[in-house]
Amino acid sequence: MRPVRGPNSATDPATDLGPDGPPLPACTPGTCPIPPANSPFPGGPGFPHSGPHMSSNTYRIAALAGDGIGPEVMREALGVLRAVGDQFSLKFDVTEAPVGWAGIDAAGKALPDATLELCRRSDSILFGSVGLPDRDPTIPKEQRPERAALLRIRKEFGLFANLRPVRLPKALAHACPLRPERQGDGIDILVVRELTGGLYFGEPKKTEDLGNGQTRAIDTMVYTTAEIERIARVGFKAAQLRCRKLTSIDKANVLENGVLWREVVTRIAREFPDVTLEHMFVDNGAMQFLLRPTQFDVVLCENLFGDILSDEAAALAGSLGMLPSASLGATSGQQTFGFYEPAGGTAPDIAGKDLANPIAQILSVALMLRYSFGLNAAADAVDAAVGKAISQGLRTGDIFSASETGARRVGTREMGAAIVAAL
Ligand code: IPM
Ligand code: MG
Repeated sequence: MRPVRGPNSATDPATDLGPDGPPLPACTPGTCPIPPANSPFPGGPGFPHSGPHMSSNTYRIAALAGDGIGPEVMREALGVLRAVGDQFSLKFDVTEAPVGWAGIDAAGKALPDATLELCRRSDSILFGSVGLPDRDPTIPKEQRPERAALLRIRKEFGLFANLRPVRLPKALAHACPLRPERQGDGIDILVVRELTGGLYFGEPKKTEDLGNGQTRAIDTMVYTTAEIERIARVGFKAAQLRCRKLTSIDKANVLENGVLWREVVTRIAREFPDVTLEHMFVDNGAMQFLLRPTQFDVVLCENLFGDILSDEAAALAGSLGMLPSASLGATSGQQTFGFYEPAGGTAPDIAGKDLANPIAQILSVALMLRYSFGLNAAADAVDAAVGKAISQGLRTGDIFSASETGARRVGTREMGAAIVAAL
């Protein structure tokens, strides 16, 4: 059985992080089907705070809804943000701006200059999703929203640490594709994904004509010691606040990158003697997620492996529509600049139909309150309100099953309104 988290538990992780920040917020196990995520970085990630200017008590947020279901799930998330602001007397200065195809249509670029400027002036970015499979092929690949907006922002702001908490609340056991006995006491995994290195950004990256009727495409997987060290430390710190187990994913049996990854993670583990480290090849990891997901606590991955495994983990937690994510950079001071987005895509097939699940976007608001602003009580309130709406039986289509007693199928708006009401 997994240790229960929280201040009342005998196995509670250390709550005083010494030089890394103030004591952790108390969480109350059992009050919320989705347990609050303790910040691996209490009072902010404890990283140096880069550019953004946190004015004393107004939090400046750039809200970039993007394409597809982005605008409708963003609308609900901003409603929750307003409500939690009122409840806790917090001032959020939210400015919306176009990105993705919305940016191309409004200003000719997936990341318009004005949108980038707004991000630079903000304390954090709340992001929806970008890209439309029907339109993407109509423009050169470097200009498409994924590369020109999303990857550009990750690189521009040095957002190297991507945290994807995957939880299967008991009430949603039916939405998990695994048999109940494989779900154990519930699935609760934190995927820590490196976000600015590896195959996504390595050079050379090109497609070349070989002149003999053949074309060659090249992507380069590249990591330096320093890049692995900093993401490993994020993983270990997160594990210290959870069940103190870290599974590091690599392909050390084949890839040079895998060998270095394993060496560096093993060395960094000595700084965290209270965390149990295990290494796993990525192919085995993908299989173990299906066979025994309850063995995992924190899963540390390079960029592409983390992309793949986090989608797999999201499916275990019922739906991609439930998976929020935080992308954090190296920053200073009490707050950390962060980028918060649902891990799912634009889902154009259901866009504009009031069918999308807004929960991943709303839980991304909770991550923003916690990781960027250190507003743990407000973050807990949002997590708890989501948990309440789920325990009341409200289900968007992706988590609905006709055979579940007490479940009621609702749309995007009704789910958002129920979460606001539950605050
Ligand atoms: C994610 C997405 C992105 C990624 C895409 C949209 C570029 O799949 O955030 O997981 O591959 O990182
Ligand atoms: Mg992905």
